[in-house]
Amino acid sequence: MPKIIVITRGGEEKDVQAMPGMTVMQIIRDAGFDELLALCGGACSCATCHVHVDPAFADRLPPISPDESDLLDGSMHRDAWSRLSCQIPFRAELDGLKVRIAEED
Ligand code: FES
Repeated sequence: MPKIIVITRGGEEKDVQAMPGMTVMQIIRDAGFDELLALCGGACSCATCHVHVDPAFADRLPPISPDESDLLDGSMHRDAWSRLSCQIPFRAELDGLKVRIAEED
């Protein structure tokens, strides 16, 4: 089973089984990480699913849409590796993707 690696705000690192077809947000949320609020349920309208992705995977991720970028601009914690995890569909090529849950705004 493919997996992603989730780093919590406290720095704890956990492997999580990942099902292709789900978004990275759904995988993190369903694994019980309640610090990832995902308040809009994946509609790209809240930015509470903000994560920092491992740069090694950056070229395997879908491009950032203008809506995603606008929302990330509202975060004080945006960096070059920021993504909204609801906008990343998990695929087998992303096996081993490491994401760190962003600080809360
Ligand atoms: S869950 Fe709201 S923007 Fe991702």
